[in-house]
Amino acid sequence: MRPITEENLVTTYNNFYEFGSHKRIFSAAQDLDVRPWTVTIDGMVEETQTLDIDTLIRRMSLQERVYRLRCVEAWSMVVPWTGFPLADLVALARPRSSATFLRMETFLQPNVATGQRQSWYPWPYVEGITLAEATNELAFLVTGAYGKPVEEQNGAPLRLALPWKYGFKSIKSITRFTFTDEMPSSFWMDVAGDEYGFWANVNPEVPHPRWSQATERPLGQDDRIPTLMFNGYAEEVASLYADLQGERLYF
Ligand code: MTE
Repeated sequence: MRPITEENLVTTYNNFYEFGSHKRIFSAAQDLDVRPWTVTIDGMVEETQTLDIDTLIRRMSLQERVYRLRCVEAWSMVVPWTGFPLADLVALARPRSSATFLRMETFLQPNVATGQRQSWYPWPYVEGITLAEATNELAFLVTGAYGKPVEEQNGAPLRLALPWKYGFKSIKSITRFTFTDEMPSSFWMDVAGDEYGFWANVNPEVPHPRWSQATERPLGQDDRIPTLMFNGYAEEVASLYADLQGERLYF
């Protein structure tokens, strides 16, 4: 429904607090060494595994998917990602039946990522989702964008894409997947839990405490457009939340 965002906008306007709390972190992010890179799968699984990123990628069948991303700050983009379903990683992990949540963690390298020297932030960046969300068809692990390996500033070598949730849930440069039966806290919940919650599903009718979420500004455009319920993916994901109406699903 919406045009693909120009590649040079997607790679030069970023949120990646590890490299600074502003949008122009792309050159600083080049200092991140994305090879070698290992990903650990642990917690409530049949067996803890630590995999080299290229071994992991070779075991997956890659696809391209064009997804919208809606940042909680009310800008948005449309990106052709390459990667594989998060459900395929869950299958590889073989979680125990008691596991109900997936916690994900970014690298911790304050020598390279100077933002991580700011000790008032709860590093490393962490995010969490339910296992039902992780195995939803839309949940996608990104290894590429615009037909090339994904760039450091966009979360190389492995980042999440959860297009129905605010962008902060789409954690970048993942090093660990932990299966658990406890709802994980997250980086932004720990920074400002009254503004950023666990569920963070896009809903134009529920404002952020400090601004409206009714509209958004696509990168490269001056005009704002309406924000859609679940960022336009209600058909695929609304059923995940049918029995959770008591929860604060939309921030
Ligand atoms: N992941 C990490 N590790 N650190 C971050 O600061 N920012 C999040 C998310 N993932 C962030 C992160 C936010 S707020 C958004 S909107 C998206 O990444 C931005 O992704 P992009 O820079 O590729 O557009």
